[in-house]
Amino acid sequence: MARHAVLAGVGGYLPKLIVTNDDLARSLDTSDEWIRERTGIRQRHIAGADETAAMMATEAARAALRRAGAGPDEVDAIILATSTPDQAFPATATRVQAALGVARGFAFDLSAACSGFIYALAVADGMIRAGQASGVLVIGAEVYSRILDWQDRTTCVLFGDGAGAVFLHAAEGPATPDAPGVVSTHLHADGRHGDILYIDGAVGQRERPGTLAMNGAAVFRHAVVNLAAAVEEALAANRLDRSAVDWLVPHQANRRIIDAMGKKLGLAPERVVVTIDRHANTSAASIPLALAEAVGDGRIRPGHLVLMEALGGGLTWGSALVRM
Ligand code: UT7
Repeated sequence: MARHAVLAGVGGYLPKLIVTNDDLARSLDTSDEWIRERTGIRQRHIAGADETAAMMATEAARAALRRAGAGPDEVDAIILATSTPDQAFPATATRVQAALGVARGFAFDLSAACSGFIYALAVADGMIRAGQASGVLVIGAEVYSRILDWQDRTTCVLFGDGAGAVFLHAAEGPATPDAPGVVSTHLHADGRHGDILYIDGAVGQRERPGTLAMNGAAVFRHAVVNLAAAVEEALAANRLDRSAVDWLVPHQANRRIIDAMGKKLGLAPERVVVTIDRHANTSAASIPLALAEAVGDGRIRPGHLVLMEALGGGLTWGSALVRM
């Protein structure tokens, strides 16, 4: 019997502390005007000492389970996308598993930078289809504030912290564009461009935990080209016209990239979910956080077709098409 994955609930967590562009401009050679015009960002949430990746992921997961009307006993897998785990191991996913009181199944972290949530969703979808898991928490959780060089105005103004989660469960029958569920996912990577966005160090390198480095203009060019192709690929694979898409929930890296993808789909601006103004770029957390907001306020409703896309360090990129 064919199986597919249904998105049953979504939730998010944002740190309490809000830092505005003006706050940053007090100690950095930048301005609210530059940041807003080039990126669309007005503010970001920054994690406090107690707001670890595991803590934020657990709160987001609890919210997703609540929305799904599911208990921890229905979770048999946790896949957590992050580039900023609290520890190299154990995986942050296992910390979340323990905090939720889940004592069965499996849990692991996945590293695909800003595309992490799309990658994790694709892996979860595949495992559900294969019968390997039936209730999967897919989480993106990031504390980029801990890996930023706060003196580097070309990167530190762009990112924020947070976590988002979805709960997927198995349903009978094949995935189709008309039935609720994950319709398709498409993943890509091109490691030849690994040096345009990376962390310059690692836990394994003594005295050099690393900070984020980026050639913003190069990443921008790849994002516009590759994400446009990813959108086309998702539609063509399902023989859908762009008019079938109700919502675009894009990775939130730059307002100009988001607007270009909305235009590509011919979507009215109010059909594109934008959180970058308030959240900045929360990497793997940005898509589930945006989804949680738009489902929570009633914009995205059951039956709507949602296209998600992201590009990040690696380079990695991809798309997911989901009927809510
Ligand atoms: O999520 C993962 C994927 N990441 C992305 O998709 C990010 C893609 N890239 C971008 O979003 C944009 O390239 C940025 C927002 C990072 C930069 O925008 P840009 O229009 O490409 O600016 P730029 O890097 O070409 O810099 C233009 C100028 C430079 O000054 P000069 O050399 O022209 O004198 C920078 O030094 O702006 C300067 N600048 C700043 N000025 C004030 C760079 N950062 C700042 C700043 N405040 N924070």
